[in-house]
Amino acid sequence: MAEELKVQVIDHPLIQHKLTLMRKKETGTKDFRELLEEISMLMTYEITRDFPLEDVEIETPVAKCTGKQLGGKKVGVVPILRAGLGMLSGVINMIPAARVGHVGMYRDPATLKPVEYYCKLPKDVAERTLIVVDPMLATGGSADAALSLLKQKGAKSIIMMCLVSAPEGIRLLNQHHPDVPLYVAAIDERLNDKGYIVPGLGDAGDRIFGTL
Ligand code: PRP
Ligand code: URA
Repeated sequence: MAEELKVQVIDHPLIQHKLTLMRKKETGTKDFRELLEEISMLMTYEITRDFPLEDVEIETPVAKCTGKQLGGKKVGVVPILRAGLGMLSGVINMIPAARVGHVGMYRDPATLKPVEYYCKLPKDVAERTLIVVDPMLATGGSADAALSLLKQKGAKSIIMMCLVSAPEGIRLLNQHHPDVPLYVAAIDERLNDKGYIVPGLGDAGDRIFGTL
């Protein structure tokens, strides 16, 4: 029986089109960054679809009426450094009141294990819904460690949003963080022997920041 991965693939045509442009090796830093920001905005629109609303009494220039506004928990956005920074502006363009936390995590190139080097979060992390962003979910080690760290710091409500994923990374998050809804724009075939996603888009951090 085929294995069931617990993940929501956001396959909106605009996202798929823009992702294909990002994957092309000839796409330069400026376009890559802009496309990632645009996709992050579109993905944020989708992942917030079920956010609760509450009634609010307002007055338009014409009449009083009952409008809707976001209710429920306030939002925090947590990019996993470095590449997650490429998704941050897209999310906060959509949710400007969100607070931002940062988790620094890099993957040791030899062991592929995550190494934590920075963590700064809003004080009220336990009261917020955190949207953790990282374009690449490969082995899943970095996201797994970041989610564990956030939980250790008190986070109770977390959503994980990635651009390109490999089955290995999804599987790891499903095992270790079944409580965290996972959204991706694509599930690729596999990892290569260097832990890169195939076909993927290469090293996301290097393509965002031009450090190739
Ligand atoms: C990349 C990416 C993820 C991680 C994914 O970061 O942004 O954080 O690799 O790989 P994993 O799922 O196997 O852990 P990288 O370590 O290249 O650091 P950078 O963002 O600073 O470039
Ligand atoms: N990190 C990246 O930036 N790309 C990959 O394909 C895997 C990990």
